[in-house]
Amino acid sequence: MENLSPRAGELEAIEMASRDEISALQLERMKWSLTHAYENSPFYNKRFDETGVHPSDLKTLSDLAKFPFTTKKDLRDTYPFGMFAVPREKLARIHASSGTTGKPTVVGYTAKDVDTWAIVVARSIRAAGGRAGDLVHVAYGYGLFTGGLGAHYGAERLGCAVVPVSGGMTERQVTLIQDFKPRIIMVTPSYMLSILDEFRRQGLDPRESSLAVGIFGAEPWTNAMREEIEHAFDMHAVDIYGLSEVMGPGVASECVESKDGLHIWEDHFYPEIIDPVTGAILPDGELGELVFTTLTKEGLPIIRYRTRDLTRLLPGTARSMRRMEKVTGRSDDMMILRGVNVFPTQIEEQILKCRGLAPHFQIELTRSGRMDDMTVHVECTLEAADEIARGVSAKELTYHIKSVVGVSTKITVHPPGGVVRSEGKAKRVVDKRPKE
Ligand code: DLL
Repeated sequence: MENLSPRAGELEAIEMASRDEISALQLERMKWSLTHAYENSPFYNKRFDETGVHPSDLKTLSDLAKFPFTTKKDLRDTYPFGMFAVPREKLARIHASSGTTGKPTVVGYTAKDVDTWAIVVARSIRAAGGRAGDLVHVAYGYGLFTGGLGAHYGAERLGCAVVPVSGGMTERQVTLIQDFKPRIIMVTPSYMLSILDEFRRQGLDPRESSLAVGIFGAEPWTNAMREEIEHAFDMHAVDIYGLSEVMGPGVASECVESKDGLHIWEDHFYPEIIDPVTGAILPDGELGELVFTTLTKEGLPIIRYRTRDLTRLLPGTARSMRRMEKVTGRSDDMMILRGVNVFPTQIEEQILKCRGLAPHFQIELTRSGRMDDMTVHVECTLEAADEIARGVSAKELTYHIKSVVGVSTKITVHPPGGVVRSEGKAKRVVDKRPKE
């Protein structure tokens, strides 16, 4: 694979700024953001007053701890536009996240916000090894989801040409990759696996494709999955993170030269890690819930937003801004089986250890009596599709999950194509337990 480290002069100055410079900029911007939220968002005005805090209470970055958290519920309760800090006429864009239950959460951007977003996504694509002139195949969904349009504007900002394919129609995805020869693909990692299958189904060698870099995000994925995809396509696979409430893709991104976690673009998004139960701030290096405060956003400034994503903050490496470790899961995805906490990513890691299994899986939760049961539905590879091989793979996976994750599971090994395919974010858990 190519060495894609940035050349001198390619980075923005802030990407290599000292910690002191970054903190000074953050403090100045945080004061602005709190004041903007307080003065212009009726929601924050009321919330700060109720909590007895005022933007002028922020003298240092650590004073942020005095301010209240924002949750997804706050966005739902103020549906659709109740948290916005600019009149509707000043908005340039609306996005929304579907949400499985109830109303979607709606987010709004001014023209300047759309511009800031393009800048951070362009920075992310450059960190992944993208350059002006590259052809970028965007297979994140276009629409209310922030993935497609977020990637699109960022790629254009970097000076790339975009193929705005959106998700779905997998056969056509492969045809377009073969015919247009993009150097970069932006897609969820689970949908990349569906595209991989389609390459093989068409008798094409994915290692011969033009793809040199994949920028994968919108769902948790493991380093084991990275190796699988990098080997299958002979390409670099890097992680991009974001959420609509904070902006969309491009809140944090990995550098291709280090692949050691995602640098948070801290000049726009201020991170904290908290204990998810007590809300206390944890020191860098400790695992907890990620919380973000936007520093420059006009349309929907968000203060101390509880993401539910679990990770830890680490010092900068390839860039001076801090990194977040690859997200292991969301607190919402955590399953508790006989007292043991389990995340779908832990199951993914174990599946990738078994040679006879393909990385397509879904977890089913059921209840018998008072006990919860977990069944892992997974597919075999073409080479290990006979009944005996499938039995061996099932035993192997049962053993790995029991010895590493610490829980007993039922395993069903399906023939190739037997597990539902993702065209965007994969649905990893199907909960069939009776509602209490
Ligand atoms: O998924 C934005 C996005 C689009 C990010 C494309 C990256 C690429 P939402 O639909 O609001 O926004 O979902 C946000 O997805 O809180 C995480 O739980 C999860 N997520 C996003 N990126 C990653 C990642 C987009 N790289 C929620 N690793 C977040 C793990 C991720 N989880």
